[in-house]
Formats: sequence, C-alpha cells, structure tokens
Amino acid sequence: MSIAVCPGSFDPITLGHLDIVRRTRQMFDVVVVGVARNASKSALLTAEERVELARSALAADPATADVQVAEVPGLLVDFCRKVRAVAVVKGLRGGADFDAELPMALMNRHLTGGSTGIETVFVPGDPRYTHVASSLVKDVARFGGPIDDLVPPGVADAVHAALAR
Ligand code: PNS
Repeated sequence: MSIAVCPGSFDPITLGHLDIVRRTRQMFDVVVVGVARNASKSALLTAEERVELARSALAADPATADVQVAEVPGLLVDFCRKVRAVAVVKGLRGGADFDAELPMALMNRHLTGGSTGIETVFVPGDPRYTHVASSLVKDVARFGGPIDDLVPPGVADAVHAALAR
C-alpha cells in the first residue's frame, strides 16, 4: 500500500490545494494531508481551524472523501515516518514555488539520510489556480474583496471571522 503526505500550512486551504490532493489520491492508495507550521509565516487561522476546514472540504468530494487530515506537530519527516509515507507531494504553480520547495525537499532528504524511502514528488498545479495562494486569498479578504470562488465552501466565513478577531 503506497502512502503519501500532502503537507502545507493550509492557512487557509484553497481550490488549488484541493486539486493537488485529489490528483495525489489518484496516484497513491492512502493520502494524508499534513497541516504543518511554516516557521517563516505567521498563521491567521489556528491549527485546529486549518485541520477542520481541510477535513470538511475533502470530505465533501467523493474523490477525496477517504483522505485523512492530521496536524504535523514537529518535523515533517518525523510525521512521514509515523504514517509510513513513501512520498511527500507538493504542487508547483511556477518557478517561484520550485525555488521555495527545492531547499525544503533537499533538507527533508538530508534529515532522512537520503535513503529512507521518502521522496518528494512535485505535481504541476492546474493553470486555473496559478494565481491562487493562501497569502493572496487572505490579502483579498482583508481588504474586502471576494474570495468565495477561490476556496472551498465555509472557508471564506472562517477567514473573515479570523480577520475580525
Ligand atoms: O504551505 P507551505 O507553507 O508552503 O508548507 C510548508 C511546510 C509547512 C510544509 C513546511 O514549512 C514544513 O514542512 N513544516 C514542518 C516543520 C519542518 O519539517 N520544517 C523543516 C522543513 S524543510
């Protein structure tokens, strides 16, 4: 049974994330979405909110209904070992994503000694979502713009509520 982890901050989960998870599920028997902390970003939503929003969005689509969602409490590689993942799957919208992702993939490879069977797999993002980034979604929402068509149902309300806190 092949197991993959789709990690990310998911602050919040977007339609672009959902596309990558759905396509990952077509390649692997089991997919676990790992809601992690990116030390270089400060999150708007709590980890619990990010997990819950990802869970309900994935459950709503039959293609991802069996995808698990869990918080990554520490290092991603430790989480991958725990769930016995053979791959970390990340979407790439373009070159800037690759530039950000490659050092993380190589660091994860370093941390696993390079030979423990966890490979990073990059999946090209659907061009419909090239402009869809969690940071831009939050920016648009912060200044009163519409985000409903960029995120799964329920996420826009959660973002607005978090911005009002
Ligand atoms: O959605 P993001 O912010 O691009 O995802 C990055 C994330 C959260 C996957 C990355 O920061 C991560 O793996 N964090 C967990 C802690 C960790 O393992 N850090 C070292 C990774 S090189």
